[in-house]
Amino acid sequence: MSAYIVEDTKKITTQKIIQMKRDGKKIAMLTTYDYTTAQIVDRAGMDIILVGDSASNVMAGNLTTLPITIDQMIYHARSVARGVKRAMVICDMPFGTYQVSREEGIRNAVRMMAESGVDGLKLEGGEEIIDTVKGIINAGIPVVGHLGLTPQSVYKFGGFGVRAKEEAEADKLMKDAKLLEEAGCFAIVLEKIPATLCQKVCQSISIPVIGIGAGSADGQVLVIQDMLGMNEGFKPKFLRQYAQLGAIMNDAIGQYISDVKDGSFPNETESY
Ligand code: KIV
Repeated sequence: MSAYIVEDTKKITTQKIIQMKRDGKKIAMLTTYDYTTAQIVDRAGMDIILVGDSASNVMAGNLTTLPITIDQMIYHARSVARGVKRAMVICDMPFGTYQVSREEGIRNAVRMMAESGVDGLKLEGGEEIIDTVKGIINAGIPVVGHLGLTPQSVYKFGGFGVRAKEEAEADKLMKDAKLLEEAGCFAIVLEKIPATLCQKVCQSISIPVIGIGAGSADGQVLVIQDMLGMNEGFKPKFLRQYAQLGAIMNDAIGQYISDVKDGSFPNETESY
């Protein structure tokens, strides 16, 4: 029996997440893309499950998050939502679904909520999308902001390096975080920025800051395949691997192949 089974299924809400920051309690967030894994992650006691558009990378094998479609995100989100009782489930709005116009962003957000059954959405960007963010929140949809390394803008940045190391970009990030808070976001993800800047943002806004590669924050988020060691070649400085699942799976699958080949599977007790 696992040591990490949470029987309490009382649903986590936006109010609870904001209260956690007020109470000085850290928020745990992890990506998940399918039903079976969602059940495991939820029962372990995760606060927020993110159906990230990193599904484009880790589920579909793309180099960036740009190719994933709204239909594919809804498919992943609906699968996760079916497996979750307690955690708050947030889904990324994919590239191109909210950048063109405010109206289109609201329409796509409403569709994603209605068809997927998640509890809220995450959008990348600050001032440039603030009217869309306000419109989506006005439609009754909880929104998480995302600043710093925003992977949907990878071609603008020219890579996946640390963002906001220079003063001008750091100042804009501070302003954007404030704008997102004022717009009504209930949390913000800060990705791959200096730890000192992340601390300044945490202190300057009252909503929780969830970091990834941003040092200490009000909470942390990681991609599940990365933290379980399934992506063996991917070891950035910010990543802590909590298991070597890739190696464990390789052993188990290799053993299965060997048992099939030598005829030891199935045995009598495994036959009808
Ligand atoms: O898509 C994703 O997985 C994310 C996290 C890395 C924050 O946005």
